[in-house]
Amino acid sequence: MKLKNDLFLRAARGEATERPPVWLMRQAGRILPQYRALRASLSGFKELVSTPDLAAEVTVQPIDELDVDAAIIFSDILVIPEALGLDYNMVEKVGPRFPETIKSAADVDKLRPAAAAHQELGYVYDALTATKKLLDNRVPLIGFAGAPWTIFAYMVEGGGSKTFSKARRMLYQEPVMAHRLLQKIAEATAGYLKQKVAHGADLIQLFDSWAGVLPPALYQEFSLPYINLIIQELSGEVPVTVFAKDAHHAIAPLSKTSASVIGLDWCADPNEVRQLVGNERVLQGNLDPCQLYAKPEEVAAATRAMLERFGSHHIANLGHGVYPDTPLEGVKAFVGAVKNFNY
Ligand code: CP3
Repeated sequence: MKLKNDLFLRAARGEATERPPVWLMRQAGRILPQYRALRASLSGFKELVSTPDLAAEVTVQPIDELDVDAAIIFSDILVIPEALGLDYNMVEKVGPRFPETIKSAADVDKLRPAAAAHQELGYVYDALTATKKLLDNRVPLIGFAGAPWTIFAYMVEGGGSKTFSKARRMLYQEPVMAHRLLQKIAEATAGYLKQKVAHGADLIQLFDSWAGVLPPALYQEFSLPYINLIIQELSGEVPVTVFAKDAHHAIAPLSKTSASVIGLDWCADPNEVRQLVGNERVLQGNLDPCQLYAKPEEVAAATRAMLERFGSHHIANLGHGVYPDTPLEGVKAFVGAVKNFNY
């Protein structure tokens, strides 16, 4: 079936578009009152993630309410550690916590084999199927996963952290074991993403949210090869976006991979990045999420200024996920400014 609005996919493939497409990272399940109402009626976040019809409903809410050019499946990057056998709890106002973490080679061996892990995630595939039905070809559907380094960081650290020093320490003390764990995560993730594509994902985004805690040499050794493994496994079936937050040294090497789109955080300078990767590389980003707290007319002006700096080959987005208490009028001013823009 043909998409009614394929602007996002055309831009991701590097084709010329009349304006940039727009969507917001974390648009599903953070800002909409409809989401909060549904979430409050449930036992918790994990019930929502694991119930396909509810996940589909939440995925489509931003399309109905904000009229963005793409949907992103409601799920979490942490379903992969869970499928590998490392359970997590989503603690209210704290974030994810893993009761058990990876400390030794024996812990890596105890994990489920990669080939079995992605078969644990049938509820995500069912959520994609249900979402495609609700979307009725209005806009493309984005599938996603954490980049292997970011998943590794949670599995070793056991939760969020400012420095991820336990995870980084393992790279120096136990590099062979670290590579074994990363390989396992990457293989499980590749199998999982292939299934997402088979169930209707039109583009895949890899979130390397903790790329920024690695120095360049470690990023090259412990993150990039596993991102490449996943891109190769997907073998060009759909475009892939890589978002390596706070790792500006990663932009040049990422631009040499076969990723279709490079995501930028809000501290990256569009002009400098253009100098580095050229005008033809498709970039995504990167308004400061805090800009959306300003007056709507200021949001619109800042958005237009950003679009002009990127030029064409650009997908408009924020430089990270939209914050939960962002006023909807700021979000709408952002989306509206992009939709009214013409190259
Ligand atoms: O984009 C979307 O809206 C789709 C859904 C989505 C969620 N998580 C739902 C979620 C996506 C794309 C993610 C990705 C994710 N999850 C990342 C990468 C993006 C990023 O922000 O850097 C990371 C690092 C995680 C791990 C995670 N999940 C954390 C740290 C937390 C707690 C803090 C937070 O972000 O809210 C979560 C919980 C989570 N994931 C919620 C949602 C809607 C909130 C849970 C709730 O409703 O209580």
